[in-house]
Amino acid sequence: MIGIFDSGIGGLTVVKAIRRVLPAYQLMYLGDTARTPYGNRSQEKIYEFTVQAVDYLFKQGCGLVIVACNTASAEALRKLQQEWLPIHYPDRRVLGVIRPVVEVAVSQSRYGRLGVLGTRATVNSGAYERELRALDPKLKIWQAAAPLLVPLIEEGWLKRPETIKIARLYLRELKTKKIDTLILGCTHYPMLHKKFQSICGKNIKVLDVATIVAEKLKDYLNRHPETEQRLVKGTDHRFLVTDITDIFAKTASVWLGEDIRLEKVNL
Ligand code: DGL
Repeated sequence: MIGIFDSGIGGLTVVKAIRRVLPAYQLMYLGDTARTPYGNRSQEKIYEFTVQAVDYLFKQGCGLVIVACNTASAEALRKLQQEWLPIHYPDRRVLGVIRPVVEVAVSQSRYGRLGVLGTRATVNSGAYERELRALDPKLKIWQAAAPLLVPLIEEGWLKRPETIKIARLYLRELKTKKIDTLILGCTHYPMLHKKFQSICGKNIKVLDVATIVAEKLKDYLNRHPETEQRLVKGTDHRFLVTDITDIFAKTASVWLGEDIRLEKVNL
């Protein structure tokens, strides 16, 4: 099984893309809906929660876990990969979302002027900037935190003028910097991809981050048959959450375009 972890239900954008690009594999989604959002939490808490979630998915039999949450990828992934994984599960793999997106951003950017939009924790961690500069130190990078967008998207306010107005406001500064590429550094933002693209105009490419993550995963599995062979095939996907509310259940089904059954678990 491929495990997909997010702080809440935003990671379903990644599930949707993985199902499209890698339809053969059985997926187990885990959303920490009881403790979402992570975006305004301390690094210590984000690390603690991420370890619990990844551990849970491994105990359910996942051979590989994708940390779909940008905040967790930014604040917890490196430490988890370097310190926790080798001791507890040396033969399993945990991948994040920042590295794959950054690789595509650098290769596609025309003038090396990049914008990153994310939660406060992701922006403050400097993770995107660090990874981008590691690939090309000459890049010009601007970041903006957009803390109001996650609750608006979760509320299902995807087409409301208020949401568009706020998105426009968050992008204003980045647009004045003449960026050529925008990274949507949060699981929820791909839900507004078309809106972001229309606000940005034709001179800025808004990356389809969920698809990038899925395609890079496909690439990874081709290069790592030892990991690929551990993954169960099938379509009996499971969707685990740490709390179930009507709004989560409804939004999750709307996002995936089908009715899904959420199962409540304790981490
Ligand atoms: N999943 C988070 C991310 O991608 C957004 C929601 C949150 O703040 O927990 O950054």
